[in-house]
Amino acid sequence: MTGKPLLDTVLGQRQARPPIWIMRQAGRYLPEYRQTRIKAKSFLELCYNPELAIEVSLQPLRRFDLDAAIMFSDILVIPDALGQKVRFEQGEGPILDPVDETIIASLQPERALDHLAPVLETLKGLKAALAPEKTLIGFCGSPWTVATYMIGGRGSTDQAAARLFAVRYPEAFAQLMDTLVQTSIDYLVAQFAAGADVVQLFESWALNLDDAAFDERVIDPNRRIVEGVRARVPNAPIIGFPRGAAGNLARYAAVTGVNALGLDYATPLDFASKQLPKELPVQGNLDPLRLVVGGAQMDARVDRIVDAFSDRPHIFNLGHGIVPETPIEHVAQLIARVKNG
Ligand code: CP3
Repeated sequence: MTGKPLLDTVLGQRQARPPIWIMRQAGRYLPEYRQTRIKAKSFLELCYNPELAIEVSLQPLRRFDLDAAIMFSDILVIPDALGQKVRFEQGEGPILDPVDETIIASLQPERALDHLAPVLETLKGLKAALAPEKTLIGFCGSPWTVATYMIGGRGSTDQAAARLFAVRYPEAFAQLMDTLVQTSIDYLVAQFAAGADVVQLFESWALNLDDAAFDERVIDPNRRIVEGVRARVPNAPIIGFPRGAAGNLARYAAVTGVNALGLDYATPLDFASKQLPKELPVQGNLDPLRLVVGGAQMDARVDRIVDAFSDRPHIFNLGHGIVPETPIEHVAQLIARVKNG
């Protein structure tokens, strides 16, 4: 027992009511986030300004009884730290100068940790500011998901650019994945040293892959990260969130060795209960758009989810990030329902 209900749940101890945090809980649905966001010149400046990043990380906890803070940053600070140009355009999302098969020579893993030092400062500040019962969550993007942005240059619905690249240039792709695995291990180890209690691996694009590609691009790199981190931080608590993994979920959890498994909202509850080992903690999985609408339909779905996972350690969360148009009162309603039934 650590005195932190959310961390205890990741470590396998079921709580009477599920602890809760919300993916993207620090973000544009909060007016105070939008205010702070204006003070930073750009989105990346906000990620690299510890004072402002600490402020926005704490904002959701001032309003709501959440069980965890997640450090404010983005998964795309890794390509930025490796020397690839990354920018965020209003209404467009991230835009990167795409890497090609000659990339390996141009990426600079040796400078990455120095570049990410401000994010580690954010974690140290959060550690000092948080009440002892709150869990501090660090994170990084998983290699395949980060690679889809590095290769495609922007988000896409089918990740075609990266899927073509991986098959067309297997050697260059393997080297890119090696670089991302190593950089992610160093970054996560540094996050634990800076005060993170648990880290989440965001594999947001675990969909659209055949099973061989899923093994090679998702399971194997995530397993190497888990092993690499635990070689330096014994028993490091890790949540894996392979969004869209569907029929690959049980294998992902077993082979990677993550402590807890994040479920997207399309994962059927009865499938999850039947296919996943009872001792495996799960996290999720309300559809963020049910939270936008709120009301009785949301309460009913929350109850169904809590009930489906009543026989195992469960962390309540959305099945993907909260969207900007979410009414704040609905977030309060969600947390009350999860905490009090
Ligand atoms: O959860 C948190 O509150 C911590 C902060 C956090 C952000 N992004 C802040 C952010 C985390 C954990 C992320 C993860 C992230 N970033 C993922 C994985 C999770 C997922 O949603 O699938 C991905 C794929 C990214 C890349 C990214 N960052 C995209 C595609 C976008 C644009 C889309 C959008 O929502 O605007 C971002 C921008 C971003 N990251 C914002 C925030 C608060 C909004 C930008 C702004 O405020 O101007």
